[in-house]
Amino acid sequence: MINRETLAKLYAREQAAFAASHPKSKAAYENAEHLFGKVPMTWMNKKAGGFPVYLATAHGNTVTDIDGNSYVDFALGDTGAMVGHSHPVVVEAIQKRVGELGGLTTMLPTEDAEWVGKNLTERFGMAKWSFSLTATDANRWAIRLVRAITGKPKILVNSYCYHGSVDETLIVVGPDGEGMSRPGNVGSPVDVTQTSRVAEFNDLAGLERQLAHGDVAAVLMEPAMTNVGMVLPEPGYLAGVRELTRKYDALLIIDETHTFSAGYGGMTKRDGLEPDVFVIGKAIAGGIPTGTYGLSAELAEKVMARTDLDLVDMGGVGGTLAGNPLQVAAMRATLEHILTEEAFAKMISLCDYYTAGVEALFGKYDLPWSINQLGTRAEYRFAKPYPINGTDAYNSADPELEDFIHLYLLNRGIMLTPFHNMALMAPTTTKDEVDQHLDIFEQCIEELLA
Ligand SMILES: Cc1ncc(COP(=O)(O)O)c(C=O)c1O
Repeated sequence: MINRETLAKLYAREQAAFAASHPKSKAAYENAEHLFGKVPMTWMNKKAGGFPVYLATAHGNTVTDIDGNSYVDFALGDTGAMVGHSHPVVVEAIQKRVGELGGLTTMLPTEDAEWVGKNLTERFGMAKWSFSLTATDANRWAIRLVRAITGKPKILVNSYCYHGSVDETLIVVGPDGEGMSRPGNVGSPVDVTQTSRVAEFNDLAGLERQLAHGDVAAVLMEPAMTNVGMVLPEPGYLAGVRELTRKYDALLIIDETHTFSAGYGGMTKRDGLEPDVFVIGKAIAGGIPTGTYGLSAELAEKVMARTDLDLVDMGGVGGTLAGNPLQVAAMRATLEHILTEEAFAKMISLCDYYTAGVEALFGKYDLPWSINQLGTRAEYRFAKPYPINGTDAYNSADPELEDFIHLYLLNRGIMLTPFHNMALMAPTTTKDEVDQHLDIFEQCIEELLA
């Protein structure tokens, strides 16, 4: 379908244009001699242009770089900045805490924490909450806890899931249908099949086969996979998972760090899911590092009854700064004033428009590509129909084409998430900006097919 020679030529042209218009970013990258991989965090090496864009300013959904280029940001920090960059309400709350009140890390609770817990309960239904600094940490705690409560050793995840760099989750379904270490995994303490089981998303029979071993403490899953394209649940799948976990006495941990895009209460509220543990992070503190885990009333009671567990010293995630006043103030501001029902309604409606526009382009140019939407986020894949499990989604990746499209858009002022073809709508994103993206994406497709 796509002529690879044309693609290579166009990509080379875009890389040259990128280098020409980003001399300061290029020099900054070349001069970064004291950073591992030349960047402060290794993900920043996902760079379609050969070097990353260096940030100058970011407000709302507009980012500018140190060369003075400006972008409409549909990446939004891969969900960390879902409410837009430096939202004035978050900035005010942060400034008040930092400047006026003081006390950034005190190991003392603030009253805002209970407000946040109550709001999270209203949204997601869990009874008791605890805070971490990242969703990865929240998942780590959840895993320790479910093992302690059930007395079972293993965690079950979906093939090609992502829940942070959590050792127990780095397992995929191998060619023989059984679990194996995810290719490229770094420094696992033991063979991952000793700690974990794996099933394909949307495969209840496979899930039941694994649960039948009787050694699974909990299934840890996103209700829609969002890190290998966006794989949506088939009708009845999520209810089936809950039924099977109950049948085999395993707990259910739902990670809504990304699927929160579905609405005010995530998919958990929208679809009536009934997790035992709920994990979220990223967006809910407006860009300040955060994570949180919630327990159902029943599970919380069981945990508190376990007086043999040291729930103070070794019970948490061991994050000295977790639950700090700054993080909690940012969460309150974000949840109280920004991520409201009305804001979600607006963002979702704009995302409907984005998705319909992209779908129309695929139809117009007869491309075998497809797009899925989950509330405020949408993601396309170079496959049609859209894959329904992680392994198929993983195998449908086309890194060369993806990098080219990202760079083409970037060179014309549009930023997509570098890890996926994912676009997220912020409260400030406008229809005009979506149209701008659609026009440039259409030009890109026309050039590719010429
Ligand atoms: C579903 C899910 N869970 C957890 C994480 C990890 O979040 P954090 O980077 O805050 O640790 C991610 C990150 O992308 C995620 O997508």
